[in-house]
Amino acid sequence: MNLINVNQSECIKCGNCVSVCPSNVLSIEKTGPKVVSANNCIACGQCVAVCPRGALDNIKSPIANQIDIENFPVINSKTAEHFLRSRRSIRCYKDTPVPNKKLLELINIAHYAPTASNSQGISYIIVENKDILEKVSTIIFEWMESQLENPLHWSFPKHVENYKATGIDTILRNAPHLVLATAPKGFKNGRENTIFQLTYAELYATTIGLGSCWAGLFEICAFSNYSPLLSLFNIPEDMVITGAIMVGYPKYTYTKIVDRNPLDVSFIS
Ligand SMILES: Cc1cc2nc3c(=O)[nH]c(=O)nc-3n(C[C@H](O)[C@H](O)[C@H](O)COP(=O)(O)O)c2cc1C
Repeated sequence: MNLINVNQSECIKCGNCVSVCPSNVLSIEKTGPKVVSANNCIACGQCVAVCPRGALDNIKSPIANQIDIENFPVINSKTAEHFLRSRRSIRCYKDTPVPNKKLLELINIAHYAPTASNSQGISYIIVENKDILEKVSTIIFEWMESQLENPLHWSFPKHVENYKATGIDTILRNAPHLVLATAPKGFKNGRENTIFQLTYAELYATTIGLGSCWAGLFEICAFSNYSPLLSLFNIPEDMVITGAIMVGYPKYTYTKIVDRNPLDVSFIS
């Protein structure tokens, strides 16, 4: 089967498909686009999506699976700014669990994030069992305490001290769900791809009434391969955790958008 099929009666030989291809799969000939290095195709689907006549199909990213863009509203810059800047890390959650359908919607959008060479490759485990979530935090506090003399992160002593005094869970914040991203062992883009996907999840969450917070302390423990923690999740032998976020319904609404440090940027002309 050919990688690319061109409807010759529709093709206007504009060469857009050739120009946008990130890996030089195509060249433009008098007869239209021609495949010159099929093995380099990363299945990004750009060649199909940019064709003004819908004349090109790619078996790795079929036109049948691509959606006409006219059906998608374009947000204006003010709305986009508000959307991007109003996301906050949520550390106080309602007790109400999020239905699986909504969680799937969240993760589905996350998986549309850009990934290195379109490698994707991230799988998800969603932990919603309260007992396991409690165990996660307890195990991480114990782990932090075991290394107070030389902690992996400066904040460990303060977390342990606070936990002992108040019993408050500053690891998972009593979130009803912990979303774990996983990738095959040795997959070198696993962490980067995860960061993009979870960032998409954090942003999209706000539009469906959800809140999230990056579970960085959890990650430090998971990345150090602490077996009492990892054994809670039944992660397949050939997979590793590459990131985590907490998810739930936010308990509070925010009335202000905060500032950041002054923008630091220079141009080289
Ligand atoms: C990589 C990363 C790790 C983080 N880890 C934690 C964490 O373990 N616990 C937590 O409460 N917040 C964590 N955060 C949230 C940051 O503290 C938060 O993004 C920052 O304070 C800015 O606040 P905002 O997200 O509300 O705008 C993390 C954020 C990132 C990007």
